[in-house]
Amino acid sequence: MIRRFTAVTVSWQFLFALTVGPAFAAGDAERGAQLYESRCTGCHSLDANRVGPMHRGVYGRKAGTVAGFSYSPAVKNSTIVWDEATLDRWLANPQELIPGQRMGFRVALPEDRADIVAYLRRESGK
Ligand code: HEC
Repeated sequence: MIRRFTAVTVSWQFLFALTVGPAFAAGDAERGAQLYESRCTGCHSLDANRVGPMHRGVYGRKAGTVAGFSYSPAVKNSTIVWDEATLDRWLANPQELIPGQRMGFRVALPEDRADIVAYLRRESGK
């Protein structure tokens, strides 16, 4: 019973991945704002460093470069620039993108990630 349920779940995710795939473009910044409020503001804000670095301007910025925030060496030394693709990968699995990083949080659904990225982009004026 449990095995069958798992198989159905996986195949739905697979179909969804095929449909949505690498289409980063269509994020909804309004929905992203709500997701940001509920999932990210425990550690982040747009204009102040908290548990995580401030986010305004993050889109288009090099990773690990907010002044006054104490990043992990992994993020500080990374050469990644935050855009649709890199933010999507970061939110899906930060540890896979930058091994040794310290953000213990992931966003499972591709459409949630796209909306959050659209929000971060808008708030960065890009
Ligand atoms: C449990 C706390 C926590 C939560 C929740 C969290 N983060 Fe983070 N985030 C961090 C920490 C800590 C870092 C710094 C990681 C490092 O230096 O290794 C970080 C770093 C980042 C960075 C890199 C910023 C830069 O200046 O290079 C981005 C982008 C980011 N987080 C986005 C998000 C988003 C979007 C959400 C919500 C979906 C989120 N985070 C939720 C703790 C968190």
